[in-house]
Amino acid sequence: MHRNDLVEGDSVQQLQADFSDPRCAQPVDFAEHGAPNQVVNILEERGFAVVTMAEPGPPDAKLTALAQTLRLGDPYIPALYRYAETQDYSAAFSDIRSDTKDQHPGFSTTAGQAWHVDGLLDAIGDIRTTVLYCVRAAHRGGETLLFNSLAAFAELRERDSAAAEALLSPRALNRRSTLPAIDMSNTGPVFSVDEAGTLATRYTDNDTCTWNFSAGPPGGLRRALAFFRKASDNPRYRLAVRLAAGEALIFRNDRLSHGRRPYEDSPGARRHLIRALYAEVPSCRPSRLSARH
Ligand SMILES: [Fe+2]
Repeated sequence: MHRNDLVEGDSVQQLQADFSDPRCAQPVDFAEHGAPNQVVNILEERGFAVVTMAEPGPPDAKLTALAQTLRLGDPYIPALYRYAETQDYSAAFSDIRSDTKDQHPGFSTTAGQAWHVDGLLDAIGDIRTTVLYCVRAAHRGGETLLFNSLAAFAELRERDSAAAEALLSPRALNRRSTLPAIDMSNTGPVFSVDEAGTLATRYTDNDTCTWNFSAGPPGGLRRALAFFRKASDNPRYRLAVRLAAGEALIFRNDRLSHGRRPYEDSPGARRHLIRALYAEVPSCRPSRLSARH
């Protein structure tokens, strides 16, 4: 990796975002004229947007309409869920709610979730968009946590380029499945820069991770990890979003890391989110089909 390549990503607006700005989590009413354009712009500025989809209707239909309007294409099934043993999780829309009969370590518990990107077996940048639609909020807690790991990487690059370089090593981070009886893992970089200078993140710091501290310049990865653990507490880079029923959080899974606060359910009224993943980025450009006359 040449140093010049590393500077190209500075054109990404999200590197300048300040998550401590209270306007960040203000929802956009998706029914309003111009809302899709606004959402696309906000996603470019911050990496995420909250939208209100208050009109009645089944959640799946709302998610489908949202994906169509934002030209996200069909939902993406993560590599981990393409096996016979994991087919229970391979639906286009995943229900996320507590379920003592289910063994999924993230979907079916009320525990908190540490920083991660979705798609632990998928290559960096493959799953570019995550949508979380809230059917019912938790009785207490359950906020989705967002970390602008891309901006933290840009800061580290300025402060300690050797540490940043270690994060670009294709040997830096192994993530393995924590699903019972599914012994699969994937090794790759924590950040990447493509030919166009576009940055992508795979920054994760949870129980799926094995760090290879021999990757990159000596000591670099340890310093990088220490920097990220501090940066993820910085209000400029991190934000907690509590979704209300009928709201959806759309975020760039290739540019942000995310997590969850633990939560408590009311009896008979479990917190219920629906998750959909996409390989595409939200856009409002007319498709080739509709541009044809
Ligand atoms: Fe997730």
